[in-house]
Amino acid sequence: MSPIRRLVLLFELIWCFIQMYVIGVYILIREMVQGHYSPPDKELPDSTGLVAMVTGGTEGIGLEVVRKLISKNVTVFIASMNKSKAEKVINELKYDYPTSQVYHIPLDLRSLKSVKECMNQFLEYGRPLNILINNAGVMLTPYTLTTDGLEEQFQVNYLSHYYLTSLLLDKLESSCSPDYTSRIVNVSSAAHVFGGKNLDKLISKCDGLFEYSPHYAYTTSKLAIILATYNLHKQLKGSNSRVTVNAVHPGIVNTGLYRNVHWSIKWLMIFLAKHLFKTPKEASDSVVFVAITPQLEGVSGGYYDNCKSFQSCALSYNQSLQEELKCRTKDLLQQKT
Ligand SMILES: NC(=O)c1ccc[n+]([C@@H]2O[C@H](COP(=O)([O-])OP(=O)(O)OC[C@H]3O[C@@H](n4cnc5c(N)ncnc54)[C@H](OP(=O)(O)O)[C@@H]3O)[C@@H](O)[C@H]2O)c1
Ligand SMILES: *[C@@H]1O[C@H](CO)[C@@H](O)[C@H](O)[C@H]1NC(C)=O
Ligand SMILES: *[C@@H]1O[C@H](CO)[C@@H](O)[C@H](O)[C@H]1NC(C)=O
Ligand SMILES: *[C@@H]1O[C@H](CO)[C@@H](O)[C@H](O)[C@H]1NC(C)=O
Ligand SMILES: *[C@@H]1O[C@H](CO)[C@@H](O)[C@H](O)[C@H]1NC(C)=O
Repeated sequence: MSPIRRLVLLFELIWCFIQMYVIGVYILIREMVQGHYSPPDKELPDSTGLVAMVTGGTEGIGLEVVRKLISKNVTVFIASMNKSKAEKVINELKYDYPTSQVYHIPLDLRSLKSVKECMNQFLEYGRPLNILINNAGVMLTPYTLTTDGLEEQFQVNYLSHYYLTSLLLDKLESSCSPDYTSRIVNVSSAAHVFGGKNLDKLISKCDGLFEYSPHYAYTTSKLAIILATYNLHKQLKGSNSRVTVNAVHPGIVNTGLYRNVHWSIKWLMIFLAKHLFKTPKEASDSVVFVAITPQLEGVSGGYYDNCKSFQSCALSYNQSLQEELKCRTKDLLQQKT
């Protein structure tokens, strides 16, 4: 690699880094000005009989989503990686909600094989699936290749969820009832606005110095989720499917997600978090709202923030980018599965 190329890459890296924290501060201020909206109880009705799968329901926002769903009598399958952690969480939930039905299914989103096994295990229960919440995620991981030879944030946040969704789509479809049509909720992030359109950067292997920007990989994986949400919405509408799909920004919350944030930023973040961030419980509000409110029955193809429909960034509506992403995703899945 020429020194000039290396310099360009270094500037790109710094630029992506700056963008991410600029957007972080902007969103934080916006959230403070907006104030948090917590949907009233009547917006979240008793949902006895519904079955949900929540990826990453053992921690942070996902755990609070599970708790709220259980409190509404939803049967919940937590799909996550750490078995002992899931068992511990389920014991605690059962203590608080003794009649709840909550199960764990092992899922490691770093492996497409594991995604397939998760789907099979779920089908063995012989239950319907009314709600799929694609929540699990990682942020700013150092460059690591997954079992399938892909960058971790791209696969965990986007590709494996895409695969999981496509494997469960028939089940979601056949579980629609007259009162409740099945819903997919994709947890994205307001940070998607700095996602880029260079998909090669996500998919190709990096080995040169400065070739990998963890910030670009995160924001673009979150953009990809929205692009795929809009694209699937169109596809579902075209095929007369009743399943609905929406994306959500939960809010800025201090969770395990921030473990890879650089120390130079972390101290400030911890300070801000204590005073200004949402709590995981607050952040779960939008996700649960989109999953069960009767207001959104049959509503699809949207992006929600603070329980309200929101515009996502202009690039997310770019249809040629949506198509390009879909083609590449399908190629990748064909190659790797
Ligand atoms: N926190 C924020 O400020 C914020 C803002 C916007 C959007 N979001 C989004 O909200 C979602 C939840 O974030 P969070 O803050 O709640 O994160 P978190 O506290 O770090 O929780 C992450 C969850 O994902 C699971 N997970 C991680 N890697 C996995 C893998 N390879 N396979 C299966 N499960 C895996 C973890 O399961 P194990 O317990 O098994 O490890 C854990 O339950 C993410 O999609 C994130 O991008 C968060
Ligand atoms: C959940 O179901 C139980 C009975 O199975 C019922 O007593 C309770 O009111 C329901 N919870 C909610 C939130 O409606
Ligand atoms: C799994 O969770 C347990 C309990 O929360 C924790 O002690 C352990 O370190 C976790 N294992 C891994 C591999 O992260
Ligand atoms: C989001 O939803 C769409 C439509 O269901 C799906 O195709 C896509 O895989 C999901 N994306 C992620 C990353 O969750
Ligand atoms: C839309 O996406 C395509 C890539 O598929 C890109 O070439 C084009 O520049 C994008 N348009 C805008 C307005 O960003």
